[in-house]
Amino acid sequence: MATRILVTGGTGYIGSHTTVELQQAGYEVVSIDNLSNSNIKVLDGIEAITGIRPLFEQVDCTDKEALAAVFEKYPGIKAIINFAASKAVGESVQKPLLYYRNNLVTLLNLLDLMPRFGVEGFVFSSSCTVYGQPDHLPVNEDTPIKPATSPYGNTKQICEEIINDAVHAEAPYKAVLLRYFNPIGAHPSALIGELPLGVPQNLIPFVTQTAAGIRECLSVFGDDYNTPDGSCIRDYIHVVDLAKAHVAAVGRMLSGKSEKPVEIFNLGTGRGLSVLEVIDTFQKVTGVKLNYKIVGRREGDIEQVWADPTRANRVLGWKAQSTVEETLLSAWRWQQHLGEIKD
Ligand code: WQD
Repeated sequence: MATRILVTGGTGYIGSHTTVELQQAGYEVVSIDNLSNSNIKVLDGIEAITGIRPLFEQVDCTDKEALAAVFEKYPGIKAIINFAASKAVGESVQKPLLYYRNNLVTLLNLLDLMPRFGVEGFVFSSSCTVYGQPDHLPVNEDTPIKPATSPYGNTKQICEEIINDAVHAEAPYKAVLLRYFNPIGAHPSALIGELPLGVPQNLIPFVTQTAAGIRECLSVFGDDYNTPDGSCIRDYIHVVDLAKAHVAAVGRMLSGKSEKPVEIFNLGTGRGLSVLEVIDTFQKVTGVKLNYKIVGRREGDIEQVWADPTRANRVLGWKAQSTVEETLLSAWRWQQHLGEIKD
């Protein structure tokens, strides 16, 4: 009998790519999502890639009764990977209570239900935003956490603290906190990828939509930072590499290899890339000229951050494999595929 894993936010960008990798590693996935920020058609893409349609329930994780019913309907869930959360930094500033309620109540419901249903492991989708603007680069997992600069980032910090306190109060499960850097790109099949609703907030979907002529012009938010070319630097990681790290984390936790009840891993490539370098590389690999202009800084942006991923490399036995060229090309192929889909 395949080990059963619950993926919350399973039709989302990272949730869908992780479902593919879990299925291909032999796990059975129960996927839940409230579909507030994703499309159920993603299940068709997953099935087209793996040949297996995930078990799926439309559930809002802030509804504890509905969530408990999932565990009743699908007994034997061994671990949970929690992607279900609101995640737009700017929106979180406008709607802080929505972010605190959704992200914290979701977590509290899941942690509450785990002992009742014998769930042994919890993987939390955290973020490099917990580091703020680090004093030293690259950042490792012992880099001090800085006060959050947005309600979104604060929910990630609070959730990490809740998990630590729950596990250290002898909760009968282990946890892994995965701190993502900047996930980008799409599955090489171009059958699943990022589906931003409305005007993209993140760089790469705006780049690919500009290249596709959907957006008139890409705005580069500042070139007066203290970086080599003046634009901000980030650690862009292929979403499939990120998904594979979740499979490694679940496997480690369920096999009893965890050295501590809560383990933390930075998931990045260890390579920093500036916005202007992303644009230049994208143009080179796709042959598409991007229309962009330099504008003022975006409030809340940090100047530069990239990961020291050596702990994940050594302990998880995981390393990001994709080059930035392959990653940007996968994002472009996905955008082209979207252009072929008739709604
Ligand atoms: C990247 C760079 C922008 C758009 C976000 C989330 C964070 C985490 C990672 C989940 C920045 C610049 C962007 C544009 C631009 N997600 N940019 N023009 O802000 O690093 O982090 O993704 O955990 O929580 O906030 O990503 O893609 O928005 O920005 O110049 O149209 O691109 O200024 O320097 P960010 P991003």
